[in-house]
Amino acid sequence: MVVGRPSSSSVARAVVLLAAAMLLSTLSPCCCASAGGGGGARRREKQQQLHPVILIPGAGGNQLEARLTEEYAPSSLACRVWPVVRGRGGWFRLWFDPSVVVAPLTRCFADRMTLFYDSVADDYRNAPGVETRVSDFGSTSTLRYLDPNLKLLTGYMNVLASTLEKAGYEEGFDLFGAPYDFRYGLAGPGHPSRVGSAYLERLRKLVESACAANGGRPAILVAHSLGGLYALQMVARSPPAWRAANVKRLVTLSAPWGGSVQEMLTFASGNTLGVPFVDASLIRDEQRTAESNLWLLPAPRVFGNTTLVVSRHHNRSYSAKNMTQFLRDIGFAEGVEPYRERIRPLVEVLPEPGVPVTCLVGTGVDTVESLVYGEGGFEAGPEKVVYGDGDGTVNLDSLVGPIKAWSDSPEQVVEVVELPEVSHSGILKDKSALDQILRIIDAINLNATTSSSSINRSSQDVLYN
Ligand SMILES: *[C@@H]1O[C@H](CO)[C@@H](O)[C@H](O)[C@H]1NC(C)=O
Ligand SMILES: *[C@@H]1O[C@H](CO)[C@@H](O)[C@H](O)[C@H]1NC(C)=O
Ligand SMILES: *[C@@H]1O[C@H](CO)[C@@H](O)[C@H](O)[C@H]1NC(C)=O
Ligand SMILES: *[C@@H]1O[C@H](CO)[C@@H](O)[C@H](O)[C@H]1NC(C)=O
Ligand SMILES: *[C@@H]1O[C@H](CO)[C@@H](O)[C@H](O)[C@H]1NC(C)=O
Repeated sequence: MVVGRPSSSSVARAVVLLAAAMLLSTLSPCCCASAGGGGGARRREKQQQLHPVILIPGAGGNQLEARLTEEYAPSSLACRVWPVVRGRGGWFRLWFDPSVVVAPLTRCFADRMTLFYDSVADDYRNAPGVETRVSDFGSTSTLRYLDPNLKLLTGYMNVLASTLEKAGYEEGFDLFGAPYDFRYGLAGPGHPSRVGSAYLERLRKLVESACAANGGRPAILVAHSLGGLYALQMVARSPPAWRAANVKRLVTLSAPWGGSVQEMLTFASGNTLGVPFVDASLIRDEQRTAESNLWLLPAPRVFGNTTLVVSRHHNRSYSAKNMTQFLRDIGFAEGVEPYRERIRPLVEVLPEPGVPVTCLVGTGVDTVESLVYGEGGFEAGPEKVVYGDGDGTVNLDSLVGPIKAWSDSPEQVVEVVELPEVSHSGILKDKSALDQILRIIDAINLNATTSSSSINRSSQDVLYN
């Protein structure tokens, strides 16, 4: 590990780990196809001409709606009638709905959230009779419905979006939101991912229209956690000319590039994500079915042979390379095939983004590094939890380790900004983090008003203060 533990005295220091020649200077176009008149007809006259920002939330920060069809088989009377009040067309909010804390309803919630892996189609699908959608794609309002005071999940997206608005950004003009169904994921080459791929396409279209409506200025993607993995796949799977014309920079916040050990705890024991009063075991089975959770298991590429979990009951220890054995031993054999066929090939490679990237990472927060289960097996919960460095959710090795490979390419710009004592979701609301995010966006917009080709950092070395 190159990055040392941060000294607690420094507030927030930018650590430029890797910097290379500016990518855009080697690729021709500066702008996307602009809507005539710079989108001026639709937009209010503004002093500043800003690069549009697209916010891509982490898993919990999305909003998911559902409706039930005749095919739906309620597992209890409560599930038959709940929720009593539904909107037009029978739609109601599935995620996040506070009624999940009431035990009988936790069960309904879990049933409806459950995904199924169809090995014939080689893809995931919803539970029978459950239709789901993300509402208001393109708007940040869909990401801002959670009150940050609830201190739940990533309701903090609200704080980040408001901070950008105070800095001059305006909803619907140069500020957009790109929600997704966070239960689904993507797969390695040759495997279909109907829902995940459709999201990448939708995101691509949103980026294009944001750029076109803003005088051809390419967009800044600001992505939290799992959103960073999706955003990376979107740019990496797009042609270089598209990237150069449409994406100015990818700014990732707490992106778990190589997964996290905590995810193994989620699989073995369930994770209430900080929601109080919820029985973890009730939602564990549902969480296991989410393809995105498999995606977030520790990647062998990053964690290697290190022992992450020990089970005395099984007399075994598991590294990231033993994930299929781990899935079997915790009693989730159904996960083995999709993990082995779809997910492992996906996480084996971290594709180069091909656009300049700034990774903001929290450090110095206790993060699950290994787990010991006793004679009682996985059902009994861990006997011992060992903590290490990270952002409280994602291990430091996963936050910064994998992206070092990008430095091998002379054209890839990568900047890493370490934020001491900032947690995985605190990165969306802590002042030190918000200041850094604004600084990065400001710098991009300042350069936009001068010459975009003047950026040149090829001679910069590793900076530690
Ligand atoms: C990891 O384990 C495998 C198989 O036991 C071994 O071949 C390999 O050399 C080990 N790698 C490291 C980095 O220790
Ligand atoms: C546990 O495994 C080790 C080798 O991995 C073996 O030597 C030992 O006898 C096993 N213990 C039990 C109780 O099975
Ligand atoms: C874990 O993987 C290593 C290397 O691939 C292997 O030697 C070991 O037997 C595996 N352990 C389990 C519990 O499957
Ligand atoms: C803005 O331009 C300056 C000078 O050309 C350069 O040092 C800096 O890295 C640029 N900033 C961004 C965010 O592109
Ligand atoms: C960028 O830096 C290199 C050497 O460090 C220099 O040769 C080149 O002229 C610079 N380009 C710009 C646009 O400043």
